[in-house]
Amino acid sequence: MKIAVIGTGYVGLVSGVCFSEIGNQVICVDNNPSKVEMLERGEVPIYEPGLKELIDKNKTAGRLSFTFDTTYAVQNSDIVLLAVGTPSLPNGEANLSYIEQAAKEVGTALNGFKIIATKSTVPVGTNEHIERIIKLNSSHSFSIASIPEFLREGSAIHDTMNPDRIVLGSANQETLNTLIELHKPLTSNIITTDIRSAEMIKYASNAFLATKISFINEIANICEKVGADVTRVAEGMGYDRRIGGSFLQAGIGYGGSCFPKDTQALIQIAGNVDYEFKLLKSVVEVNKDQRFNIIRKLHDALGSLSGKKIAIWGLAFKPNTDDVRDAPAIEIIQELIKLGAKVNAYDPVATANFQREVNHDHIYWCNDPLEAAMGSDALCLLTEWPEFAEIELPHLASILARPVLIDGRNVYNPDKVKEAEFIYYSVGRPHSANISDSYTEAMS
Ligand code: UDX
Ligand code: UDX
Repeated sequence: MKIAVIGTGYVGLVSGVCFSEIGNQVICVDNNPSKVEMLERGEVPIYEPGLKELIDKNKTAGRLSFTFDTTYAVQNSDIVLLAVGTPSLPNGEANLSYIEQAAKEVGTALNGFKIIATKSTVPVGTNEHIERIIKLNSSHSFSIASIPEFLREGSAIHDTMNPDRIVLGSANQETLNTLIELHKPLTSNIITTDIRSAEMIKYASNAFLATKISFINEIANICEKVGADVTRVAEGMGYDRRIGGSFLQAGIGYGGSCFPKDTQALIQIAGNVDYEFKLLKSVVEVNKDQRFNIIRKLHDALGSLSGKKIAIWGLAFKPNTDDVRDAPAIEIIQELIKLGAKVNAYDPVATANFQREVNHDHIYWCNDPLEAAMGSDALCLLTEWPEFAEIELPHLASILARPVLIDGRNVYNPDKVKEAEFIYYSVGRPHSANISDSYTEAMS
């Protein structure tokens, strides 16, 4: 089939490339000329493992092209996918201005019947809003659909090519049949439903995953006080198929462009229909606090942080991505600077994006994890990049000014850390220096 993808961000670019990989003719559009020029030169504007190879292959095969000419792309396609950003407004609502703009451009460009499907995460009812905008700008007939995406950054190609399910929302059976044909090569788990339910499936799924994370983080905070091990607790819980073992990794909380945005948006969606989503509000509150446990543990280990040098390993919101949107590292480093500390910051790929969010002359940007650790009073691991697990712990302890290791993602084996004589803090595990003595005394 011939497909136009409007918006070549993390979602639009990966979706477009994967559709070309399974044999479709795809034109990716973006209104950022420098992005389009990069893609035409064979460079990739985002870090996503395996993406460059797939782009090169499908460009060479003549199935994939890039343009900022929306009209050309729409007029040479049968299906148009909208994948422009829907970031948060200050009040937490989704900013729909980009998708409204894209709908207007697509409507103006229509030269015949098309299916116009929204991939971007949009509040329930938005697709009808998009339909009205297109109708205002075109006399041609078209059909609207909602195809929410569930890809995780860092494994976006895998998740797109091997989805747990495809959700297709449309009121028109013929449209659904066409979209089933398009997605059949990816999976047989294809759910067809009405548009509003499809829009809600996306929000409800992300909100539930965020709830699992805040839940296990609160269990971790309690485990620290009662001397239990949250990694064992999560393992024991996960064998129950009703719970499932994934998304029970305790740490410093979730970041990224989706969970923070989509949880806030769903709270607003509920609020707009006079429903207070109390549970989800607590999930967001727990997550906001969780990252500051790093600061509490640093105070515990070092006392005042003024004048101290703190090494930070990991700036991206998760490993295998350069995306720093709402990364916990942003607020943690801002707080350290506020407390008068100096920061040695290192990330394998996200530093350039991070510097656009946070910059200060008390932050020294390092090109190597050991350079960041050298002479620091403590080391905080915020993102579980695989390279950090391979560092020789005894050598690491020897180059730190103080052997203080705060493991925000439970990367290290506490026994190995103990052998290297670190003062070690992790999340919800009893080998840390941070079990409340009062509880231990009370239980003895
Ligand atoms: C976005 C939303 O953030 C996510 O919630 C939704 O599920 C999918 O779309 P993402 O791909 O991360 O995800 O957005 P972003 O990285 O911001 O990419 C959006 C792209 O659209 C950018 O490249 C931007 O230049 C482009 N764009 C934006 C257009 O081409 N036209 C516009 O009018 C606005
Ligand atoms: C998420 C959803 O997983 C995906 O389905 C949706 O399409 C977009 O949002 P993404 O944000 O890319 O994907 O990454 P994900 O792997 O879900 O991690 C999100 C955040 O949760 C990261 O900050 C990660 O560190 C954190 N996380 C994840 C935990 O803290 N614990 C976990 O067990 C899992």
